[in-house]
Amino acid sequence: MTQTATALLTAAKRAKANEFYTQWADIEREMNAYLEYDADVFRDKIVLLPCDDPEWSNFTKYFALHFANLGIRKLISTSYAADSKPGIDYQPTIFETANPQFDEDKTRTMGKLFVLDAKDVNGDGVIDINDLQWHYLDGDGDFRSREVTALRDEADIVITNPPFSLWREFIAWLIDGGVKFSMIGNQNAVAYREVFRLIKDNQVWLGKGFPRNMAHFTTPYAVHSQWVEQEGEGIVRVPGVQWFTNIEHGRRHEPLQLMTMAENLKFNKKLIKSLDGAKDYLRYDNFDAIEVPFSDAIPSDYDGVMGVPVTWLAKYNPDQFEILGTDESDYPPTKTYKAKVKVVDGVPQKSNTGSRGCYVRTVSFGPGTYFDVGYPVRRMYKRIFIRHRTDAS
Ligand SMILES: C[S@@+](CC[C@H](N)C(=O)[O-])C[C@H]1O[C@@H](n2cnc3c(N)ncnc32)[C@H](O)[C@@H]1O
Repeated sequence: MTQTATALLTAAKRAKANEFYTQWADIEREMNAYLEYDADVFRDKIVLLPCDDPEWSNFTKYFALHFANLGIRKLISTSYAADSKPGIDYQPTIFETANPQFDEDKTRTMGKLFVLDAKDVNGDGVIDINDLQWHYLDGDGDFRSREVTALRDEADIVITNPPFSLWREFIAWLIDGGVKFSMIGNQNAVAYREVFRLIKDNQVWLGKGFPRNMAHFTTPYAVHSQWVEQEGEGIVRVPGVQWFTNIEHGRRHEPLQLMTMAENLKFNKKLIKSLDGAKDYLRYDNFDAIEVPFSDAIPSDYDGVMGVPVTWLAKYNPDQFEILGTDESDYPPTKTYKAKVKVVDGVPQKSNTGSRGCYVRTVSFGPGTYFDVGYPVRRMYKRIFIRHRTDAS
């Protein structure tokens, strides 16, 4: 039986199976977006790449290759010890075993630190990956350790694809460090209360992103899934992946091109189909807002509050829109439903038993968690409440 991508990642997270490696093209596309906005974004900066393995990681290869032309002051990568990674058949590389520092015990139990600074160590006239110097860390390279945290504190910018199983801890660690960062994550993470708050307050935003929000990771695991693109080498296609960052890029300042409400109701086929015969945008039963099921159906001339899907965040331009909250936080409902309540024609009932024909729907609501549209009540996917900025040009 095949697994869905979400099931695959959920299982991976549970098993602490974190070995999913980022492709060069995905790193390059994202970094190019930052460089197009500011060609000096990495100039004279200390760049840290934690949760990596500098010997094979594309992050290290990318930044080492571009070290000189990006004007990086110092590049640091750290890896996590082989013995701390469950389910991995570990063999040290020749690069390590041929080095006089090689230690059979430490190679399994310690993380490693690689540094590239403005020294042409091998004297070949260029500073690149061949000039990386390394040593074992004192611990296993856990990003939460004192030594890796000290590296974070030394760094100006931190970039990585962190372990899925520790994603929330990782972003909190970055915020604590007050660094610029860019990290890969699942788009559902925007719903985490603390992450949403950062996005709402414009301290974190989504990056340029992956084509169709689809990442391709290489993995050493034998995964059996419809999402496996290549057996053996193991390339897994994972939908709903985003970059989370506080580094500026151009897409974030491009206004979304929109039609008026009347134009949408006349020409937007997806919207018209979703309205199922209704002649106007639907209003929620328990939030003072209209439902906008697709980002391209946001009416350009509506002044009030609109509920949009979380995927809209990939198109969010803070000069154009203001985020007010979600159906779970910050934007207050006008009506709340208790858990396990029966709702008849949009009205919560005292008893949740019995039936009244096809207009009766029994729905489980957590207080303030869900919201409804029309009659009979319908539970929607998560919504973000937004409003046009009146001061927008
Ligand atoms: C999703 S993989 C990404 C690897 C690499 N950054 C890349 O994108 O190619 C996350 C890596 O973090 C490592 N890791 C797991 N737990 C860690 C921890 N507590 N501290 C540091 N690294 C950890 C895993 O072993 C894995 O190699």
